[in-house]
Amino acid sequence: MGLVRLLSLKQHGDTRGSLVSLEFNKNIPLDVKRTYFIYNIKPGEPRGFHAHKKLKQLAFCITGSCRFILSDGLSTEEYLLDTPTIGLWIDQMIWHEMHDMSENCVLLILADDYYEENDYIRSKDEFMRRVNGDELQNTSTI
Ligand code: TYD
Repeated sequence: MGLVRLLSLKQHGDTRGSLVSLEFNKNIPLDVKRTYFIYNIKPGEPRGFHAHKKLKQLAFCITGSCRFILSDGLSTEEYLLDTPTIGLWIDQMIWHEMHDMSENCVLLILADDYYEENDYIRSKDEFMRRVNGDELQNTSTI
């Protein structure tokens, strides 16, 4: 399966404008416990550069655009998130970086657990070690 997995939401548009509804565990198949948004972007300042041990997240770019780089340690994929109705899944143990965020970019992130710094892997070396360690364990049991 590819690293870029998207969730497309229905847009309720009429002459007044557009509306998108997020119903947790309905059109959003995630047990959402926390949402946060990233805004006031400093141009050229990338963010992310971490993976989560357990946390699953879904990212929406409500305005503007943001280029996501996702890696599972074996392959790397990019996706330009620039449509408010499209959500990008950020699964557990996926190294993610956000680049080229437009100045008006607002990212809305849904997460299935509360903020927990212990869940973060902020070192790419540690991430690679963990991923490769798991790989070795998996192959040795075959
Ligand atoms: P961080 O996760 O490093 O941001 P990014 O996703 O861009 O890498 O979070 C930035 C700061 O905000 C850090 O000090 C932790 C804090 N924070 C919270 O307190 N609660 C949260 O839900 C999140 C996501 C971050």
